[in-house]
Amino acid sequence: TEWTTPLRYKPYHQWSAAYQEILAAKLQKSDWKQAFHIQPKTGLLNDPNGFSFYNGKWHLFYQAYPFGPVHGVKSWYHMVSDNLVDWKQDDYALLPDSAYDSHGAYSGSAIPAEDKLFLMYTGNVRSANWERLSYQLGAWMNSEMQVEKIENPLITSPPSGYTHEFRDPQVFRYQDHYMMLIGAQTEEEKGAVLAYQSKNLIDWELLGELDYTTEEMGFMVECPNLVFLHNQPVFLFCPQGLDKNISSYENIYPNMYVIGSSFDKETVSIENPSGLVNLDEGFDVYATQAFNAPDGRALSVSWVGLPEIDYPSFTEGWAHCLSIVKELTMKEQHLYQNPVAEMQELRQNHKVLQGVVQEEDKLLHTPEKNVYELKLELDASVSGALYLFADKQNKDSLKISFDAKHDTISMDRSKVGISFGESYGSIRTAALKSQDKLTLHIFADRSVCEVFVNDGYRVMTSRIFVKNPQQTGIFLQGFTGNYNGDFWTLREVN
Ligand code: FRU
Repeated sequence: TEWTTPLRYKPYHQWSAAYQEILAAKLQKSDWKQAFHIQPKTGLLNDPNGFSFYNGKWHLFYQAYPFGPVHGVKSWYHMVSDNLVDWKQDDYALLPDSAYDSHGAYSGSAIPAEDKLFLMYTGNVRSANWERLSYQLGAWMNSEMQVEKIENPLITSPPSGYTHEFRDPQVFRYQDHYMMLIGAQTEEEKGAVLAYQSKNLIDWELLGELDYTTEEMGFMVECPNLVFLHNQPVFLFCPQGLDKNISSYENIYPNMYVIGSSFDKETVSIENPSGLVNLDEGFDVYATQAFNAPDGRALSVSWVGLPEIDYPSFTEGWAHCLSIVKELTMKEQHLYQNPVAEMQELRQNHKVLQGVVQEEDKLLHTPEKNVYELKLELDASVSGALYLFADKQNKDSLKISFDAKHDTISMDRSKVGISFGESYGSIRTAALKSQDKLTLHIFADRSVCEVFVNDGYRVMTSRIFVKNPQQTGIFLQGFTGNYNGDFWTLREVN
């Protein structure tokens, strides 16, 4: 298929059910289909949307283009869960079927109010000469999971001085108001974030630009999210076109965060903001959505995929997945990200891994499939590398290397499976706080791998497309010291 613009914007009802069944069948047969990550039913998935807790259940929506592995006219697809791990597919929740969202029901958030779940999102519209118009729209979902759109836009246009690159509203409760942040662009084409407030979720008053840095934030900021950890603000966002001298990154667009000492609503500022930090030190995390859940935790979930990069699964007609759900915490002014405790509900067979690190590659385990959790602790003295998704000779594998100071860690995907996105580099290196032991907590799921380093001090996420699903070897190689670990096979959810 040649994905011309008219084809990508062809209305949903003009696609046949038979065509969608073919797409679904191909995905079901794929060796890269995941066991416990949220992935599209058909076609393409991108940003997580509307992550919330409502009516006793977790709700999570995602950006979907159901007809192929391309960014066509988007909708919201709805997932529901009791435990953040077993996700059930519900249905399309927002379709691009009104005058205000005809070219895409774009990203947004959700918040429970008055027995319903309020959804706030961006309606993307293209004019006859293909100029972009952005409307901030609302919808109510009831306990039967029926969604009703609010007919008129809640915000009809960006304020003066800003362009129609204006999207991804995050709504949250702050003191006696609702607040909303929206990704924006100034007329000088600089990235910005606008803040609004409301008493009733319907009438919004502009507060001004969020002040969180003195640097220039590229040409556009997407997917802003503000969460609070013990009253300290943590601001997550995606600055597009950010100057690498301001903060270094290698992905096409970074997903960054800053931490402040406090938040001042009067001046709309994050006080004493830290510098920008990469949220994930791997290859594929973008558009992370986070919220303060009613149980007191701050939870996040990311799109594992990046815009404008071709992924090997495109040849099978589908694209991307979401990350597992992570809990955000803070220690000594550093953000820690860890898998939510509920992930343990997936554990099946357990195996203890224990021994001495050897100079030659040592096979620790060859699981039946790349669907597992692995926790490994390495002695203070150990330098070396862990290899995952490895073939028998360990020639084709994902390499995670570390030195004995344990002050950096690298992920090298240049020698595993089908390579992609190479022009943005195949090795990522993250700085660590020098410490005795090195701990790795890994979730592998057929074509994705999430590595939590030193109790969530860093996270490195990568898609991986091995040519042979039998390629499941776990090797360790290095110098002087012991390793200790646990391995679990994980239950298939999908
Ligand atoms: C980020 C993004 C958002 C937009 C959505 C459209 O990946 O570009 O800014 O709302 O995707 O699918």
